[in-house]
Amino acid sequence: SSVPLVDRFGRIHNNLRISVTDRCNLRCTYCMPEDVQFLDRDELLSFEEIQKFVAAVQPLGVNKIRLTGGEPLLRRELPSLIRLLLQIPGIHDLGLSTNGLLLAGQAQSLRAAGLKRLNISLDTLDESRFEQVTRRKGLSQVLEGIQAAREAGYESIKINAVSIRGLTELDAIPLARYARENQLELRFIEYMPIGADHWEREKVFFASEILELLESEFGPISPARNYDPRSPAMDFEYADGGGRIGIIASVSRPFCRNCNRIRLTAEGKFRNCLFALDEVDVKSILRSQQDTHRLQEIIIESVRQKWEGHEINTARFVKPQRTMHAIGG
Ligand code: GTP
Ligand code: 5AD
Ligand code: SF4
Repeated sequence: SSVPLVDRFGRIHNNLRISVTDRCNLRCTYCMPEDVQFLDRDELLSFEEIQKFVAAVQPLGVNKIRLTGGEPLLRRELPSLIRLLLQIPGIHDLGLSTNGLLLAGQAQSLRAAGLKRLNISLDTLDESRFEQVTRRKGLSQVLEGIQAAREAGYESIKINAVSIRGLTELDAIPLARYARENQLELRFIEYMPIGADHWEREKVFFASEILELLESEFGPISPARNYDPRSPAMDFEYADGGGRIGIIASVSRPFCRNCNRIRLTAEGKFRNCLFALDEVDVKSILRSQQDTHRLQEIIIESVRQKWEGHEINTARFVKPQRTMHAIGG
């Protein structure tokens, strides 16, 4: 068929997330344990292998790519990978998700390589809460990274804040004010059970609560007029012209029905869902002389096997073996 990456539920998969490293220079509690055994360098896919993978899936309908980690800016020579990927016909939409720590030094060179869209994680503007969440220092470095990105002329810069009870209650308004003042699109992401920590429903600060809190400070907020149904975020607009705000309500309003995502891990495992319990090795194929046809068959088959969606809201939920840092968010 002309749309090979369609699954049993009619979902078309055009959006590939590529993790380029499992390493990170932060240790966010909701994402990874303090002590981790990272992959060895030779276990990582090389840039050529990643390029080969993308060239194989592009004809299957993949046209949107996001580079993730761990922290992708820890991978050396990342601009070279961006150039390699943008050389592939049909790949125009390339984004990167980063924690921002190393961004001040790299914002320009990444932009020059052709990167247009950046998502930067920032959960708090308070130094001590930043340390509490990330188990490291670095707030001022992240803020410098964001300013450098603004000066580098990106088409889109979004700020991602994980929404956790006891934390986001204190941070939502300062973050929203900061985003409004700096023309940044802020998105809150409901805290999901994908880290090494103990997750409970009660710990999620829900979409409805975020909206209520923001309205109490900034006045009415309503659904944005032109929002993209395939984006995980519900988009809203401040009535006072203060711009847009997004909420990724992965727990209270899962977007699995509209999911268009597939994933490649840093060591070359293909995953058909963030919460998938199994994955398929593609590194051995990329490292063999087999042609890309075999690779395409494997991807098509895995997408056909994709389940309806995560089961966070049911008693059946099983947490994947990998934590977020080793999947790529
Ligand atoms: P753009 O739409 O291209 O801006 O990217 P994005 O929003 O998909 O990328 P980003 O890396 O900023 O992801 C935002 C958050 O959405 C991540 O933190 C994840 O927590 C969540 N997310 C991304 N993909 C999935 C997914 O497939 N399933 C679920 N449940 N959550 C996801
Ligand atoms: N729940 C929700 N979002 C998470 N992220 C990492 N772990 C979690 C979690 N348990 C987010 C990061 C980053 C994105 C790639 O994933 O904050 O913004
Ligand atoms: Fe690192 Fe991102 Fe995970 Fe935080 S959420 S530990 S910044 S990979």
